[in-house]
Amino acid sequence: MEQRSFYWTFLLYHVCLLWSCQGLSVRFKTQQALCVIKGQSFNLRAQIDLLDGESLTRVTWDHAAKNSGKNHTVAEFPHRTSDEKVTLEEQGAVLKFRGYQPADSGVYTITVINQAGQRRSAQQTVREYLAVNHVSVMVNVSHSVLHCMEAWGSEPTFTWLHEKVVVTEEVGRVSADGRSLHVSGMFCGHFTCVVRNKLGYSSSTYTADVCEQDNRHTTPVVVCFLLLLAIIAACLAFMVWRRHQRNRRERLWESYENTL
Ligand SMILES: *[C@@H]1O[C@H](CO)[C@@H](O)[C@H](O)[C@H]1NC(C)=O
Ligand SMILES: *[C@@H]1O[C@H](CO)[C@@H](O)[C@H](O)[C@H]1NC(C)=O
Repeated sequence: MEQRSFYWTFLLYHVCLLWSCQGLSVRFKTQQALCVIKGQSFNLRAQIDLLDGESLTRVTWDHAAKNSGKNHTVAEFPHRTSDEKVTLEEQGAVLKFRGYQPADSGVYTITVINQAGQRRSAQQTVREYLAVNHVSVMVNVSHSVLHCMEAWGSEPTFTWLHEKVVVTEEVGRVSADGRSLHVSGMFCGHFTCVVRNKLGYSSSTYTADVCEQDNRHTTPVVVCFLLLLAIIAACLAFMVWRRHQRNRRERLWESYENTL
């Protein structure tokens, strides 16, 4: 009994496997949105898998605009492309887009149909590549942590500066994502967060208390110098006093001899 149920499971598993293999498949390499700079070109490349003997009868690319939600076909293989900014290559698997504008953002759907009428589709989101904006630094004084915030901006990278110099281990530790700085040294001076991407950079500075470091180094030097001066002055005074005493003794001696 048990063996038989095992047998059926085994069979079912293989039938399922066969079915999934038989079908056509289409996908994009990444699920992440593609960010495109205004005016530039981009390519969308779909991976289409076919079995031997299987062929495609049609490939369709649809674009659903981000704001209006309007969904229309931008290109079709083999028949036509409706948009002069779009060309298809490699049997329709690659869509080349020239002169991207923000209105071209949204979801692109590729639909492939084989000779048996099976259809598969995959989606890729396209977004505008935005400049870095509104950088600010938030501080958690109790834990000596600084957080760098930026309102929008594509692919931001973060750099921390202390007094205009990139932070070292002595100053603090930057988190893996670069957004936070855990200050381990003195929590003083100017901390700057610089956020960069392909379109430029923006920064914000947090000013903590004035660093006392310099005074601490100079104070002992000044004290030592003053002490040295005092010692020299005391020595001089002692010598002057000694000479004065000796002169007086000599004068006394002379006047004693004279009286004799
Ligand atoms: C746009 O239309 C196509 C074809 O009807 C569909 O496959 C796709 O899912 C639609 N896109 C969105 C984002 O709704
Ligand atoms: C400061 O950071 C600590 C640890 O991450 C957190 O528990 C605390 O709530 C933070 N304080 C403020 C004011 O954000």
